[in-house]
Amino acid sequence: MTGSYRVGVIRGDGTGPEVVGEGLKVLEAVRGDASFDLVEFDLGADRYLRTGDTLPDDELERLRDLDAIFLGAVGDPRVKPGVLERDLLLKARFGLDQYVNLRPVVRYPGVQTLVPSHTEEDVNMVVVRENSEGLYSGAGGFHRKGTEHEVAVQESINTRHGVERIVRYAFDLAMQPHRRKKLTLVHKTNVLTFAGDLYQRVVDELAAEFPEVETDYVHVDAACIYFLDRPGRFDVIVTDNMFGDIITDLGAMIQGGMGIAAGGNINPQGVSMFEPIGGTAPSETGKGTINPLAAIGALEMLLRQLGEAEAADRIERGIREATQQMKSMRAGEMGYTTTQVGDLVVEGATS
Ligand code: IPM
Ligand code: MG
Repeated sequence: MTGSYRVGVIRGDGTGPEVVGEGLKVLEAVRGDASFDLVEFDLGADRYLRTGDTLPDDELERLRDLDAIFLGAVGDPRVKPGVLERDLLLKARFGLDQYVNLRPVVRYPGVQTLVPSHTEEDVNMVVVRENSEGLYSGAGGFHRKGTEHEVAVQESINTRHGVERIVRYAFDLAMQPHRRKKLTLVHKTNVLTFAGDLYQRVVDELAAEFPEVETDYVHVDAACIYFLDRPGRFDVIVTDNMFGDIITDLGAMIQGGMGIAAGGNINPQGVSMFEPIGGTAPSETGKGTINPLAAIGALEMLLRQLGEAEAADRIERGIREATQQMKSMRAGEMGYTTTQVGDLVVEGATS
């Protein structure tokens, strides 16, 4: 039984449209009998500069009705930093209650990274980043702004409900057949004694429901060391929004770079949104030099979330074929153009 789906497409800014184009080319090649009604959304810097709209409420409602969303990237040097990030990307993540930010850190065959001693076996983990609260909640404010006595407060909001649902998601994931049944909490419990304590208590409580899962704890600073020195110790990591943001950029580097790092903003009960985690790469825009594999990997995650496992597996094979032929994952150093890398994936996926 194959499905029929309505998928929102937000090509966005910078290199977003180029990599989304390659993703959709791959989708067409692997979809089999599944059908996809692609619903285009004109969102991003151009729209904002033209009309002042970032993500109008009625469009957020239209996004809510879809089966999934495929996003290129948002952000543009012409727009003040923070506008599109907060009022478009974070508004979508929060508004659609995509409380899981799922970021696999996988080293594909043939990929060179900055840590030559790592093997494919070493780098095979997934970061479950809390995506709906923490420092990203926007709580805080200024007092006496612009004076010598200015106060700026930025609060980390951590709710029992929010922590429990993300930790539960991570335990469930650790139990999946392709995982190694190990869950590591990454936090900073020695300094963030309130938020960290809540996370640790929730992990300890839920551990009783998942006796087969081995749990451990690593401080976020030490986790950075282990990402380089002993990444194989990680299987599933659960962490808060800010720590998750930071360690997944480091994670991308041990995969080979931002060009290969994919992620999903997931609402298990609602609509999820998949994106390359690398941003808009303004300096590469329009040159055909950007690596589309992160976006293609995001599409693979989208298909898996929809239950189209065979199509997702095809993409996985295609990516593995492509990485073995490419010189580098870095923009402009791939040995192929953006379109040619898309073609390599299609070839590998369909042969
Ligand atoms: C990411 C990005 C975003 C984040 C920015 C663009 C708001 O860095 O997806 O990791 O901080 O979540
Ligand atoms: Mg980030």
